[in-house]
Amino acid sequence: MWNSSKFGKRLGIEHPIVQAPMILQKPLVALASAVSNAGGLGSLGCAEMSVDELGQRIAEMKHLTVKPFNLNFFLHSQPTFDPDLDKQARALVAPFYQALGLDLPDNASGTEAETFNTGKLDLLIEQVPAMVSFHFGCPNPTDVDKLKGAGIVVAATATTVKEAIVLERAGVDVVVAQGWEAGGHRGSFVSDYEDVGIGTLALVPQVSDAVDCLVVASGGIADGRGIVACRALGADGVWMGTAFLTCTETPISDVHHNALMVAADEDTHLSRAFSGRPCRARRTRYSTQLAQGRPEFPAFPLMYNYSSPIKRHGIAEEDLEHQFLLYGQAAALNKERSAEQLIKALVKEVQDLVTTASI
Ligand SMILES: Cc1cc2nc3c(=O)[nH]c(=O)nc-3n(C[C@H](O)[C@H](O)[C@H](O)COP(=O)(O)O)c2cc1C
Repeated sequence: MWNSSKFGKRLGIEHPIVQAPMILQKPLVALASAVSNAGGLGSLGCAEMSVDELGQRIAEMKHLTVKPFNLNFFLHSQPTFDPDLDKQARALVAPFYQALGLDLPDNASGTEAETFNTGKLDLLIEQVPAMVSFHFGCPNPTDVDKLKGAGIVVAATATTVKEAIVLERAGVDVVVAQGWEAGGHRGSFVSDYEDVGIGTLALVPQVSDAVDCLVVASGGIADGRGIVACRALGADGVWMGTAFLTCTETPISDVHHNALMVAADEDTHLSRAFSGRPCRARRTRYSTQLAQGRPEFPAFPLMYNYSSPIKRHGIAEEDLEHQFLLYGQAAALNKERSAEQLIKALVKEVQDLVTTASI
């Protein structure tokens, strides 16, 4: 049976389908709980939450579902301020500030990035969510042991075989193999993303061959065809982000929603102009212009100091060209429906494909 995967059994979920954690303007509690209630694994992007907010969101999730769910965190070091890069980025964004009538910040220093810390680790061990996942790095093996010791399944993103092996050595239970097609930030932490862009079709079987831990495929999976393909490639489950963006429970802006409803395969590109880290989002005037000549940007998350005022202006004016509309290469396959309807449709598409064996 396609859905009686080791991953599904390990997590105690009916279908091995993870709704990817996604940080949007508002937390995705309604979406994540609906996905879990429908038999998938709902996720919350907790990277920017304080310990207090994390506690509050866990309580909300537990109120809305008794089913397993995943909590996701970023692993990145505190950035160092580089005056030369800062000056260069300032010059690049200055024309946008001038054209939009905004005040240009003096520099992009001073962002205290929320990172994974002992307070969050202790809360997770106390609250025991079914899964904790990490993006942008390899978790500390001691933290992995503590989480696993509490009965929590630990997952982390790899974008290459090399990264998958590093994660397995750190003790993670699940490698999320993120292909080039994926919407949002790349999880790369060893390989240089600019030279390495491995698609899901090539990445998943190679990661499956290279590691013994569970592998979940991610990037460009939008329907039953993608799920069947990834299971055939060796994945124990799938991790889908963009497909859930047009669910009725997802709190995205009208501009983002409308862009998704008319999305095409060529819409997106990878840009560091938003956060300082490579991120797949819709091409906009801002991201396209800043990508010219592939300049370096202030490190994540310092670049937000320059990009956020432009984004806020874009949101207030409903101006698509100055927003960050994160989505992946398969967005044209999106449909508007509830999370439960999406999960049911995915399950039916897979079952039809598997039973008719039309391949
Ligand atoms: C809007 C958006 C926000 C995202 N935020 C996160 C995040 O906070 N943490 C994370 O691990 N991945 C994040 N991702 C990446 C997803 O985990 C996943 O790799 C990606 O959505 C898979 O590709 P797909 O969008 O083609 O399904 C985000 C993706 C999108 C589209």
